[in-house]
Amino acid sequence: MMEIRDEWKAGSAYEGFMGRWSRQLAPSFISWLQIPAGSHWLDVGCGTGSLSTAICHHAAPGSVLGCDPSEPFIQFAQNHSEDARLSFVRAGTGSLPHRGGGYDSVTSLFALNFFPDPEAAVGEMRSLTAKRGVVSACVWDYSGKMEFLRLFWDTVVTLDPAAGDLDEGKRFPICQPSALSALFRTCGLGDVRCEAIEITTRFADFGDYWKPLLGGTGPAPTYIASLDSERRAILADNLEKALGRDQGKPPSLVARAWAIRGRVD
Ligand SMILES: C[S@@+](CC[C@H](N)C(=O)[O-])C[C@H]1O[C@@H](n2cnc3c(N)ncnc32)[C@H](O)[C@@H]1O
Repeated sequence: MMEIRDEWKAGSAYEGFMGRWSRQLAPSFISWLQIPAGSHWLDVGCGTGSLSTAICHHAAPGSVLGCDPSEPFIQFAQNHSEDARLSFVRAGTGSLPHRGGGYDSVTSLFALNFFPDPEAAVGEMRSLTAKRGVVSACVWDYSGKMEFLRLFWDTVVTLDPAAGDLDEGKRFPICQPSALSALFRTCGLGDVRCEAIEITTRFADFGDYWKPLLGGTGPAPTYIASLDSERRAILADNLEKALGRDQGKPPSLVARAWAIRGRVD
């Protein structure tokens, strides 16, 4: 079995790889949540700040606090934030920041499956939420229509079957509507709803797909960082073929996410 370790060490590398898609999807997730203006938000596992920033632009919040255990990500988020309603703090599940009276909305984008204990995390998120407030999360559909990562892991596993354990589709069974809904209900949330949100991930050319994978931040880049240059070149060639090099069109794929929300009674 290969060792699984996710590296979250460079804000700019993460931005080019996944942050750009978080940024693209965040407004649809926020609009789906329907949180009233003036609400106080906590964004758990905020990373480089895509969701927190989008909340300021699209949800007229009273305040937004983003938290994440990664020091470089929090630094990046702070350096790119200019909104007085927005702040960031270094903290992770197990010691999430409290707010007197509770938050109206505690949320998390593309992070729930990386928490060591998702059930404890959602329980903690619920405990920090005010009465009638909303707990929510959104995760990629790794085993289904998160197509550019699906294509990545399917290609990797064909070349290197031992890497099967690293495939996020296999690693994260929580990223399914039935598992997410069961988790939210187990944590005592009511009026639980789960829906798909899709975006199109357009890459200018193969380089736009491949180069962000070389930054060493996130599961797929962490895997590539473990390869020697020859195996890396073979993987790149196979990915380029799988992405339709022979059709001569820039790659354009669907990325589906599952959004889940529940209310504190
Ligand atoms: C895929 S990134 C998502 C970041 C950001 N929300 C976004 O959508 O771009 C996952 C994030 O979860 C964070 N994370 C990992 N373990 C965590 C924990 N126990 N508590 C809070 N955040 C955690 C990582 O540091 C990383 O920033």
